[in-house]
Order: sequence, then C-alpha cells, then structure tokens
Amino acid sequence: MFNLFKKKKAESTRGDHYLSLKVREVIKETPDTVTLLFDQPDPYLEYKPGQFLTVVLEINGKEVRRSYSLCTSPFVDPYPGITVKRVKGGLVSNYLNDQIRPGKTIEVMKPLGNFTSEYHSKNQNHFVMITGGSGITPIMGIAKSVLVNEPLSKISLIYCSRSEEQIIFKKELDTLQNKYPGRMKVVHNLSQPGASWTGLKGRLDAEKIISELKSGFFPEAEKTNYYVCGPQGLMDLSLATLEAMEVNNADIHKESFFIEPASKTKENLIVEGSVSKLTREVEVILEGKSRIFEVSPEKTILDAGLDVGVDMPYSCQSGLCTACRGKLITGQVKMNEDAGLSENEIAEGYILCCSSKPISSDVKIVIE
Ligand SMILES: Cc1cc2nc3c(=O)[nH]c(=O)nc-3n(C[C@H](O)[C@H](O)[C@H](O)COP(=O)(O)OP(=O)(O)OC[C@H]3O[C@@H](n4cnc5c(N)ncnc54)[C@H](O)[C@@H]3O)c2cc1C
Ligand code: FES
Repeated sequence: MFNLFKKKKAESTRGDHYLSLKVREVIKETPDTVTLLFDQPDPYLEYKPGQFLTVVLEINGKEVRRSYSLCTSPFVDPYPGITVKRVKGGLVSNYLNDQIRPGKTIEVMKPLGNFTSEYHSKNQNHFVMITGGSGITPIMGIAKSVLVNEPLSKISLIYCSRSEEQIIFKKELDTLQNKYPGRMKVVHNLSQPGASWTGLKGRLDAEKIISELKSGFFPEAEKTNYYVCGPQGLMDLSLATLEAMEVNNADIHKESFFIEPASKTKENLIVEGSVSKLTREVEVILEGKSRIFEVSPEKTILDAGLDVGVDMPYSCQSGLCTACRGKLITGQVKMNEDAGLSENEIAEGYILCCSSKPISSDVKIVIE
C-alpha cells in the first residue's frame, strides 16, 4: 500500500550522481536570460555558493547535457536556482529560455565545481570580482554568501554587459548595495550604452581595471581574493591584468564557461603529438563496480567508456566542469585540459576523463 504521507525523494533513476528537480518559478531577468528556481528536494540540496548543476535533457530525441551555475546562496535563498543566458544558435540555452514552465521536472547532476569560497565571521577580506554577461551567475551566489557570513569583508565587483537592459540582476545588485552600505561597490561597464549612461563604457581594458582596483575601496583588508568569470576575452584580459599587478596566483579563482574551438583544437594537436598511438586497456571503478575497456588513440577515456555503455558522468566534455572527475589510482594519463580542477585536486591525483588519454597500460580510475 502507498504511504500518502511519505515525502517524495528527489533521487533520479540514473544513480547517485543525479537528482530530479521541479521548477518552481521562471523569472525573466533580461530579454535573453531566465532564472529557473527549483523546489527544495528532500533532503535539501547541498551546495557551495558558486557551484553549478548539470542539466540532463532530451531534446529532439537526443540526450544533451550542459552546466549552469547556481545563482543562489544556500545561506540566504530558500530555493536553489540557475540563470541561463541565450547563446546565439545554442540548443540548450534557448530551450531553457523558451520551453520551461513551473511544474516541469528536470534531471540534473548533483552540484559540482571549485569556483567557490569558505567563510568565517572574523575574516576582513576583500573580494574583487570581475565578470561579464552570464558570468555574474556564480558571482551572485558567492557575493550574497560573503555579505551574510563575513560582516567585516567587502566586495568590489566590476560587471560588463552590453546595454542597460542586458544587465542581469541589476535590481538585486542595487538592493544589495543599499542593504549593505559601504560593503559592496558595483561598477557596471557597458559596451553599447544608451545616451543617458554615465558609468564606464566601451571595452573593458587593463587601465580601467587597475584604476577601479586602486581606487581604495578596502585598503585595510587582511587578504584579497579575486574571482573572475565571463566570456573568454574578458577572462584573458582580467587574468593578464592581475598577473601584471603581481597578484598571487593562489588568490585568483576562475571559472570558464566555454573554450573557443580554435584553442581547443590547438591543444588537442599538442596532445596528439605526444601521446603514443597504442590502444590501451583502462579500468574504471564507478559507484563501486569495476569496468575494463579499451581506449583507442583517437578517443578520450570518457568517449571510450560511453561507447561501450559505461554510464560515466559528464557534461561539458571540454575539461571545464569536472563532472567527469575521477581519481587516478595507478598508471599515467595525458590530460589536455584541466581548467576545472584546482591545484590541490591535481596534486591529489584527480583527472578529467573527458580530456584524458591513457599513456601507460595500468591505468585505474575511481569515480566517486
Ligand atoms: C562550469 C560551467 C558553468 C556554466 N554556467 C553557466 C551559467 O550560469 N549561465 C549560462 O548561461 N551558461 C553557463 N554555462 C555555459 C552553458 O553550459 C552552455 O555552454 C551554454 O548555455 C551554451 O549551450 P547551448 O546548448 O545553448 O549552445 P551549443 O548548442 O552548445 O552551442 C551553440 C554555439 O555557441 C557556441 N557556444 C557554446 N557555449 C557558448 C558560450 N558559453 N559562450 C559563447 N559561445 C558559446 C558553440 O561553439 C556553438 O557554436 C556554464 C558552463 C560551464 C562549463
Ligand atoms: S565533462 Fe566537463 S570536465 Fe569533463
């Protein structure tokens, strides 16, 4: 007999890495961006500010996966949410903008990602955040968490958008600045502003970044943490500027949403040249079960596993999202993209199966 009072578990039939989330509200943020807020599953969704969900959808009869950062803070917001900006010609971003209504259940991979922060109420830190477009999504979750958890810390945010109507979370950012006076400074930079815009305009450049960061918002900070997330050009500029300012690499946190295919191809070519041309066997332990399969020279470990029906977790397939992360127990691999992994994870032996190829015959990987 059914127990009518038993709460519905949010587990997906796919296994431990997945969850089903019900859309509670769809909020139109700008003409080409929506936020999807989800009902809390049972148990509540555990995540760190700045982490992302990977949505798993079936569109036109084909399974597709994409990562979307949580824009919410587990310390502040009752419901978890993601914010999705349309990409021109993009399959999933347009589907989520056009087709999703409250009540729809979406399958997701549990939260992942290192673009996050730890908090302590005694910290007097300065959080410098540089972002553009949809890159504001994880920044929003982190900023709200800092403001509520670290009363002595401050935030300087430089946010680039095309025009006034394209600024995502404009109202929410204004509200935060008013609610936490003297603790958050938001500088908008618009590339195509209207005639009445009086703020920064045109392309963001090193001079503007340096001038904003030297304007003395929080000179007495014990430590400054830098968070950079946005289009590739903006990330390249920001990281080069921070390097020129001799900022310590360990204080810079970055998240890439997308790598231009040209740079991916170039890196793949470098890897191809250095990887042996042998087909090798690898062992993958997934949720406690061992699977052994062959990886031919033109395949990554993820591709080869999926080809033989091993249900390995994945999303971006570009080395950015860490959904395919595993720990290398024995053997050696060549990883052509490790942007999603932290230095600690790499030192501990974690690899990304989507961008790794075996280069020894005893490769054994555990995927937790
Ligand atoms: C860790 C992580 C977190 C992310 N968080 C967010 C988020 O919070 N909000 C959000 O809107 N997006 C986010 N993304 C990007 C998102 O996962 C998708 O890449 C994006 O929505 C495009 O998917 P699509 O299916 O619409 O486009 P596709 O159909 O995959 O691609 C269509 C075309 O657009 C190009 N393209 C794909 N993605 C991008 C991009 N991001 N920028 C520019 N060109 C692109 C492709 O080369 C292709 O030509 C995140 C990505 C990662 C890896
Ligand atoms: S699938 Fe995203 S890093 Fe491998």
